Amino acid sequence: MTAPVVVAMPGNDAMTQRLAQSLNADIGRIELRAFPDGETYLRFLTDVSGRALVMVCTLDHPNEKILPLLFAAATARELGAASVGLISPYLAYMRQDRRFKPGEAVTSREVARLLSNAFDWLVTVDPHLHRYGSLADIYRIPTRVVHAAPLISQWIRAHVPNPLIIGPDSESEQWVSAVARVAGAPYAVLEKVRRGDRDVEISIERLGHLDGRTPILVDDMISSGRTMLAAVRLLQEREATKPICTAVHGLFADRSDVLLAQAGARVVTSNSIPHETNDVDVGEILANAIGKDARLVPELNP
Ligand code: R5P
Repeated sequence: MTAPVVVAMPGNDAMTQRLAQSLNADIGRIELRAFPDGETYLRFLTDVSGRALVMVCTLDHPNEKILPLLFAAATARELGAASVGLISPYLAYMRQDRRFKPGEAVTSREVARLLSNAFDWLVTVDPHLHRYGSLADIYRIPTRVVHAAPLISQWIRAHVPNPLIIGPDSESEQWVSAVARVAGAPYAVLEKVRRGDRDVEISIERLGHLDGRTPILVDDMISSGRTMLAAVRLLQEREATKPICTAVHGLFADRSDVLLAQAGARVVTSNSIPHETNDVDVGEILANAIGKDARLVPELNP
């Protein structure tokens, strides 16, 4: 059987090489650029006819990425690809999971519809599942989710003696409890009130004493960074000099990576989105999810 072809959308080369190596797949190439008016030019430089194609595209800054990604998937089909799957280490638009105010777009469903129409399957890392039970609630294609919590736990075990794992809000408890269990550390969950995109208040009343432990904040993502910044400041009032902020996905809107560093926090993220804080590698768990599931890419499991 012919080996699958793995193709990076711009900015995904490191993860694509990692995956192609683990999966024993070929790396394919596309040419992608913008015309002077901003329209997208896309061309497959590798022949994908008759081959299982795996597109790699993490979806931070999703608006500029999704249209070229849809063009790539549709073109691959036209060129005769046997199947077209998507590895999206960070899956965007999961937080607008209901109509909070009348008339709002439930964009998680709309993006799910677009990607389900374009791809045969989807693999991702820890999507933000808050009000949805699973991706199957909105995606019509086979999806596989891998979890970074055990890898974050390993990082903590290797680097932080005497940690206290802290979740900034009740939504984070699913990650925090999983990380704490594997790290063999205690955990606590704070209370958060979000009044707007950049207006977050954290209450630390329930935390108790740190007892000399190093506080490690754990969340699924850092976006504006307001959640982590508010928690870091409160921890510092409790004499935690250098709290550690860990997140699966470091989006770092509003230069929040810089603001967190200036606030005295160390930040650790996974390489679901390339960034200098990437200390946790999700490449292997992604490759395993695809390589060991014959329903996604049968060519990998002859
Ligand atoms: C909340 O639902 C998420 O788990 C994160 O806590 C949140 O998205 C972080 O956002 P920001 O960095 O903008 O405070």
